[in-house]
Amino acid sequence: MPEPSGISRKSLLKAAALAVPAPLLMAGAARAMTGDRLEPTPFCDDGDDPTPPQIEGPYFKPSSPQRGSLLEPGMAGTRLTVTGYVFGTGCQPLGNVLLDFWQADDNGAYDNAGFRLRGHQYTNAQGAFTLTTIVPGLYPGRTRHIHVKAQAPNRPVLTTQLYFPNEPRNTTDTLFDPRLLMTVRPVGSAKEASFDFVLSVAPSPGTPSPSGSSRPPQPGGTWAPDIAYAIGAQVTYAGVTYRCLQGHTSMAGWEPPNVPALWQRV
Ligand SMILES: [Fe+2]
Repeated sequence: MPEPSGISRKSLLKAAALAVPAPLLMAGAARAMTGDRLEPTPFCDDGDDPTPPQIEGPYFKPSSPQRGSLLEPGMAGTRLTVTGYVFGTGCQPLGNVLLDFWQADDNGAYDNAGFRLRGHQYTNAQGAFTLTTIVPGLYPGRTRHIHVKAQAPNRPVLTTQLYFPNEPRNTTDTLFDPRLLMTVRPVGSAKEASFDFVLSVAPSPGTPSPSGSSRPPQPGGTWAPDIAYAIGAQVTYAGVTYRCLQGHTSMAGWEPPNVPALWQRV
């Protein structure tokens, strides 16, 4: 599959999520799931780090029901569909990964008595998942977020949280991490989001290395840590130009190719 060098499949998927109208994205996702468009061994040469962990918080409950949709009749809130993939560190899609989501309701409350807005599911053979839910409400002390535990078969559990772009509290919530930002778009009165997980699962021995995976990183450019970048700012990194999508102060680990929610390749 022809791809520009230096762009991982993960980045391409995120770029597609930013650039392609929703119906086309959905069609693309459908093709990906049937294997017509994306190869099972993706290109991946930008050294993506595993998705960072976050604290579990006080509201996790085990034994959630298995379901991809957390919607219930009469549930208040903006409808939200989150789609994405789970990859290993070799960018290999990971199937049968347990994803256990829990979140606050439209009023910012967790259901600690039952399992409202809690559910687990498994990625398909292509590593894909779809969560149908509502946009979680805010509660004191936190920015908007969705909790999730992700576990590949016979591997440790990753506990983390997913965030929404352009939330005022993202700048004050000390737990907020832009590497965990979803891309979110409005679709009518609803929203569609995407996020790809990378779990610390190495490719199986004998799995062909993705093209270019042995190429050493090529940092360098105008991007630097500890800089306050504003929306629209342009930098170069490893020979590629990026535009800032959201104001932030840069730091090591948030290099433009690692944080597509902050930097768009131009
Ligand atoms: Fe929470």
